[in-house]
Amino acid sequence: MNLKGKVAIVTGGNSGIGLAIVLELARQGANIAIDYVANPDATEALEKQVSALGDLVIGVEADVSKVADLQRLVTATVQAFGRVDVMVNNAGVETRTSVLDTSEAQYDKVLAINLKSAFFGTQLAAQQMIKQGGGGRIINISSVHEDWPMPGNTAYCLSKGGMRMLTRTAGVELAPHGILVVGVGPGAVATPINTSTMNDPALLQKLDAAIPLGRMARPEEIASLVAFLASDGASYMTATTIFADGGIMHCSPGL
Ligand code: BGC
Repeated sequence: MNLKGKVAIVTGGNSGIGLAIVLELARQGANIAIDYVANPDATEALEKQVSALGDLVIGVEADVSKVADLQRLVTATVQAFGRVDVMVNNAGVETRTSVLDTSEAQYDKVLAINLKSAFFGTQLAAQQMIKQGGGGRIINISSVHEDWPMPGNTAYCLSKGGMRMLTRTAGVELAPHGILVVGVGPGAVATPINTSTMNDPALLQKLDAAIPLGRMARPEEIASLVAFLASDGASYMTATTIFADGGIMHCSPGL
């Protein structure tokens, strides 16, 4: 699983699953570009970790929910490394609000950060990949909730359902260019997005009990799948989602 010399952009790369993806791709030899909005310190610390692995890294100030900022991220990557081989659309947020109580501002924020950024991240990366030739990989970090309701987190589910169809449609459209588009659907992962659950022992126990493997995933367990999907070994996968969910989507009490 060697990514030596490949160039990868990872949106939302300085925390949670994104951070683990950055480190795993770097371990496999990729040079990395990450965006940051509010957390330059975390980004600098991560840049040092990537450099220590012997790879090149840039951090670009960019709000990936804005197309102009995404364009700046792609342009800066090409300026620094000459190309883009792998685009990981990972940035994501959730509000844990229901259809009855989600405000317009919450809806717009979730859809812009999760879905709009993945759509235009796919578009801009694909345009660059076509320009440079040789195909590429686009990996959309979705969720089990692209296909499975999470009551009380409606806008999030909508955004992930949109990513599901982005992966499928863009995968078909971009296949003639050798650009493979694959979704990754994690279940519950021990990252900041799940802090409220992890800090509540009763809730955490309930969640663990709903997972056939009996525990949340470590971010590294998602990152290893992403590294595989970016590698030569995944050359025949496109327009589909791979789930790494400990079996949660198929959990049945057997009653
Ligand atoms: C959500 C978490 C949830 C998990 C499992 C993730 O996509 O971000 O809030 O716990 O799915 O349902």
